[in-house]
Amino acid sequence: MPSLFDPFHLNGLRLRNRVVMAPMVSDYATEDGEVTLRLISYYGERADGGVGLITVEATAVSPNGRLGQNQLGIWADDQLQGLRYLVERIHATGAMVAVQLHHAGRQSSFGARTHADLVAPSPIPSPTLPLSKPRELAPAEVRAIVPDFARAARRAVTAGFDAIEVHAAHGYLLNQFLSPFSNYRTDEYGGDLEGRLRFPLEVLSAVRAAAGPDFPVGVRISADEYVPGGHTLAESAVVARRLVESGAHYIHVSSGVPGGHAPPDASGSDFSATVLLARGVKQVLTVNGLAAPVIAVGRVIRPSTARRIVEEGLADLVAVGRAVLADPLWVRKAAAGLDDEIRVCSGCRDCIHHERGCPPLAKRAG
Ligand SMILES: Cc1cc2nc3c(=O)[nH]c(=O)nc-3n(C[C@H](O)[C@H](O)[C@H](O)COP(=O)(O)O)c2cc1C
Ligand code: SF4
Repeated sequence: MPSLFDPFHLNGLRLRNRVVMAPMVSDYATEDGEVTLRLISYYGERADGGVGLITVEATAVSPNGRLGQNQLGIWADDQLQGLRYLVERIHATGAMVAVQLHHAGRQSSFGARTHADLVAPSPIPSPTLPLSKPRELAPAEVRAIVPDFARAARRAVTAGFDAIEVHAAHGYLLNQFLSPFSNYRTDEYGGDLEGRLRFPLEVLSAVRAAAGPDFPVGVRISADEYVPGGHTLAESAVVARRLVESGAHYIHVSSGVPGGHAPPDASGSDFSATVLLARGVKQVLTVNGLAAPVIAVGRVIRPSTARRIVEEGLADLVAVGRAVLADPLWVRKAAAGLDDEIRVCSGCRDCIHHERGCPPLAKRAG
């Protein structure tokens, strides 16, 4: 039986255990998207804390794809030196590090605030930015975004990252193309699922080509969008299968898009609804003879939950977000069996709605 603290091989990359730090925007970068000392020490602390694979937050592949002004960027060579320092700091602890490549599309709150050119598959505002109508991308413009991802991938390799995660979840640009909730196009980038998959698959293929054939590249999806007309597990399982058949080395199963409802309580289960979606995706991949690892995430607060996800085969790896914000030493304490000494995340969501980091942790630490 596999264990949470067994090493894991992700397309040849050896992870010291099966705990992944979930990508979480920190807004600790400069206004030019460059790495800061604060950002390095934030990730360094979590890597010191024993995480196997750190996923560096949603990192913008182009300035107009930015979510916020202080979002980390990977669109310019000037950003490389800081990224190298970040990677070195994390590697010094024995952890591996992936970067999440991101374009916010219509969901760019920075773009909305600064009246920048908001772009999307269709001219429909995000439910959370109702006054900011995006411009529909022409097919040539869609194709022109693909090289932004490829150049970002090349920079990721140059900076020393060990893996790349393509962000196709949470209602951002790739998810906007995937979903009938946000994609009303009738051309080759819309219509049926094949059409809606075209842009994400072009991005995946360009990223893989830029990074090299053996470089691990995964994709994060929202397996249930929790919006009327959006994807549920049935379509997302097909999406996951197509992504893996097209070269994705892993699938990271998240859920939700802005404007949707929160994941329902998975009544009768010890696992969150999003973790159960990961199990569904894993089952579909397995039935189709596809061995790509699946990462589960979602309200994994206590180590016992993470252990069971791996031991019971719901997923291959477990991503932990807020729990490692609340206690950077979560993994070390769990590995030593000191579960009772973990500073437990209360689920208050202050880190999402009010301030970055874990404000209650800062208060407790004085
Ligand atoms: C502060 C914060 C920032 C986040 N930023 C990102 C992000 O950059 N990319 C992403 O895919 N998900 C992001 N998420 C979602 C997390 O990766 C994770 O899926 C979610 O928090 C659920 O996991 P948890 O219950 O372990 O926190 C963020 C979550 C939080 C709390
Ligand atoms: S702010 Fe609240 S939800 Fe976020 S990590 Fe801290 S305790 Fe958990």
